[in-house]
Amino acid sequence: MIVALAGQKGGVGKSTTAICLAVAAMGRGARVLLVDADPQGTARTWGEVASEAGHAAPTVIAMGGSMHKPGQLPAIAAGYDWVVIDCPPRHGEVQRAALMVADLVVLPCGASAADAWALATTLEMVREAQSFRENLRACLLITRKQGRTGIARGAREVLEASGLPVLASELGLRVAYQEAIASGMGVTEYAPRDRAAAEVIDLLKELEKFGDGKKTGIDINSQATAS
Ligand SMILES: Nc1ncnc2c1ncn2[C@@H]1O[C@H](COP(=O)(O)OP(=O)(O)OP(=O)(O)O)[C@@H](O)[C@H]1O
Ligand SMILES: [Mg+2]
Repeated sequence: MIVALAGQKGGVGKSTTAICLAVAAMGRGARVLLVDADPQGTARTWGEVASEAGHAAPTVIAMGGSMHKPGQLPAIAAGYDWVVIDCPPRHGEVQRAALMVADLVVLPCGASAADAWALATTLEMVREAQSFRENLRACLLITRKQGRTGIARGAREVLEASGLPVLASELGLRVAYQEAIASGMGVTEYAPRDRAAAEVIDLLKELEKFGDGKKTGIDINSQATAS
């Protein structure tokens, strides 16, 4: 399954979520490829930190606006169970390329009305891609959620009004995510007993179902986490 973490807005958690998902899938036995489509190189730098520290990490490759072309990602993806694409903010042409090749696009989004409004251009791009790729599935993921505030509760409703399904899984604003990435790990590896690790496993399971039976190489009932 090819999953793209996308969205035009910066700093919503695309890279953090992509990396943590990739590590969690790997910890459950899947062959995972992490595609860094962002010139900022967050995933590549994380991969270097991971390898210097000796942590198990998925293969990380850099790809750009031509990743959807024959001989590019479609050819490479065949050797993996999960391909996770970390898209850059803005860079419409790279996001479009990711939407051309992905089975599933996940749009991380903060839990506020302002975050929901900022989705407009991204939603337009997703609908355009879906108009000629009817099997492209798309969903919203609430990330960096702060506690049980009224704002956080209202956000789900506002996001649902976008017309895309909002995943039941939510990622909280937790220091474990930041520390894990900085250490070259995912949260399931860095803090397996933290709430953050449970959130990522829940997300992985939900995406597995959402992927419409796409092969992912994961036994979703397995309790193993990355070691
Ligand atoms: N669930 C979370 N809890 C706490 N901090 C988070 C979480 N997700 C992301 N962050 C932090 O928010 C900031 C932005 O996250 P990240 O780099 O993943 O976003 P991004 O969407 O990839 O950004 P960009 O658009 O610049 O690529 C980082 O400092 C990251 O550590
Ligand atoms: Mg990023």
